[in-house]
Amino acid sequence: MRAVAVANYSARPTIMELPDPRAGHGEVLVAIRAAGVNPIDLAIANGEWAARGADARFPLIMGIDMAGVVEAVGEHVTRFAPGDAVFGQLFLPPLGSTGTYAEQVAAPEEANLARVPPGLDLETAATLPTAGGAALNIADGLGPLTGETVLIVGAAGGVGSFLTQFLAASGARVLTVARAGAADRLRAYGAAENFDRAAVSIPDAVGAACPDGIAVLVDLASDAEAFAALAPLVRVGGTALSTRFAADVDDLADYGISAINFAVNMTPDLLARLADAVVAGQVAAPSIRTVRLDDAPSLLSRSLTSDGEGRMVILPAG
Ligand SMILES: NC(=O)c1ccc[n+]([C@@H]2O[C@H](COP(=O)([O-])OP(=O)(O)OC[C@H]3O[C@@H](n4cnc5c(N)ncnc54)[C@H](OP(=O)(O)O)[C@@H]3O)[C@@H](O)[C@H]2O)c1
Repeated sequence: MRAVAVANYSARPTIMELPDPRAGHGEVLVAIRAAGVNPIDLAIANGEWAARGADARFPLIMGIDMAGVVEAVGEHVTRFAPGDAVFGQLFLPPLGSTGTYAEQVAAPEEANLARVPPGLDLETAATLPTAGGAALNIADGLGPLTGETVLIVGAAGGVGSFLTQFLAASGARVLTVARAGAADRLRAYGAAENFDRAAVSIPDAVGAACPDGIAVLVDLASDAEAFAALAPLVRVGGTALSTRFAADVDDLADYGISAINFAVNMTPDLLARLADAVVAGQVAAPSIRTVRLDDAPSLLSRSLTSDGEGRMVILPAG
């Protein structure tokens, strides 16, 4: 089969012809119709996860999100049957062994896979797992925030677009930090106000708008230094969360702020809830920019989320 892979951690992603995967004992073989692209994909290929002790298999096939159709099942598989449309996040050891920028993938049936419900197309389903799953997980973890002010930094991207909607729907007053071109879309998602980091100092502007402090900071973009500059916006007793492992938990505890370095807890149930929310119209999925597998390597270093272009989805058969 054909796939986008790297030969080693310093190599550029290229199209490779690799052995076809097979459904082993307890595994499903999925013909991938669409692979969602996330920032973590390049981080894995660059070796950032190896630095955290994760093993890899080379060539390392890129990608963790996908939607497709079950082509075959191994012995003792009960959850799925050939012909089922499925989607999910395959982030399994060793890294690259279940990559999704490929024509096929074989994975254990108990992996984070769920059925694609009627009313959801496979391209949209492929955009949901990592970004939507993180957003739903964060919203679940924060609990009810009716009337509370939440600031989302990096709100225009994959996670932020879902999270803005989940938190606004739960009654929070959502402030966002995103480029000006995304402001109208975020307002349509329920944001009360957007701050453009290119136009204002975020600590100054949000501090002036919220003199009593904010209840929650969710930061999807900042490094440790920028996060530390934003965390004082949170009032004592509030929460500051980073999806980029940028929070100094002990330091912020000294100021009475509960800091979280968030790691998504993906489950098949979370995927199913996400898909149901999209089908029910409770949350809008991002617009999509489809690219052919052959074109993917040259496009991967570009921003994933520019407004007007949409979230990148790779079509292996496109
Ligand atoms: N820990 C976990 O379990 C977990 C799960 C999911 C995602 N993540 C991580 O969370 C982050 C966000 O994911 P995503 O899928 O939403 O990424 P994304 O789609 O690339 O969106 C990131 C957004 O942040 C904005 N941005 C970049 N630099 C910024 C800065 N200095 N200040 C404010 N905004 C900035 C970008 O705007 P422009 O396009 O204008 O630059 C973009 O809209 C990624 O680092 C991802 O790896 C972690």
